[in-house]
Amino acid sequence: MEKHRKYIIAGNWKMNKTAGESVELAEGVVKEVGDQTVVEAVLCPPFTSLDSVATVVEDSPVKLGGQNMHPAASGAYTGEVSAEMLRFFYASYVILGHSERREYFKESDAFINEKVLAAFANNLKPILCVGESLEERESGSTLQVVETQTRGGLANVTNEDAESLVVAYEPVWAIGTGKTATPEMAQEVHAAIRGILTDLFGSEIAQKIRIQYGGSMKGSNAKELLSQTDIDGGLIGGASLDAKSFAEIINAARELEEAE
Ligand code: 13P
Repeated sequence: MEKHRKYIIAGNWKMNKTAGESVELAEGVVKEVGDQTVVEAVLCPPFTSLDSVATVVEDSPVKLGGQNMHPAASGAYTGEVSAEMLRFFYASYVILGHSERREYFKESDAFINEKVLAAFANNLKPILCVGESLEERESGSTLQVVETQTRGGLANVTNEDAESLVVAYEPVWAIGTGKTATPEMAQEVHAAIRGILTDLFGSEIAQKIRIQYGGSMKGSNAKELLSQTDIDGGLIGGASLDAKSFAEIINAARELEEAE
């Protein structure tokens, strides 16, 4: 089986680590990753740690990402940060539409779409998060929810920009709960997402877009998830807060890549 897509393993530190603590964690990750570029490794620390983490990853293959941003270029948006502010620290990626933003901060698909377009306009690659709640899965509406979020988040994205898009499928019931979707369950949704991307951007581009899985991914389950045809990486919460456990996931991806 040949996948043609480079694995991307991103750590979403969420609201964890002070700027000081972040240095230690980022240094650990840089050391674990070394100079390998077979798997793309990305760190998404809190905004307050972007500066210090940027300095640590500067001369390494480890890339930097934000956890959120506001779509406006600047202005009276207390507490928010812009794409340009993220780019100042050479961030390459930005997580958009995480389920915690959707749930606790009431972000809509339309607002997330504004962010996606603003990210592309500023040379930031969006990691668009989609995923169903437990209630939605149990009522059989998983694919419908994921389709609405994917189409809503990607409205008016050009084919040219779409190539650098990353989508993260994160079933809400699997986040921070220790419950992981089985590889088959995840693959089913990933394949459906690729189908939607094919409809939106055509097959050639859809085959290039990476789709990460997120939700209690760790060293012990990474390989079976990452070996699925349409799973091209992971968006890692808890297990990214320790350099060694994060590296276990990167190494699982690396072993799969090298075995191909
Ligand atoms: P956990 O890995 O802690 O389940 O979090 C997943 C997540 O939400 C990453 O964005």
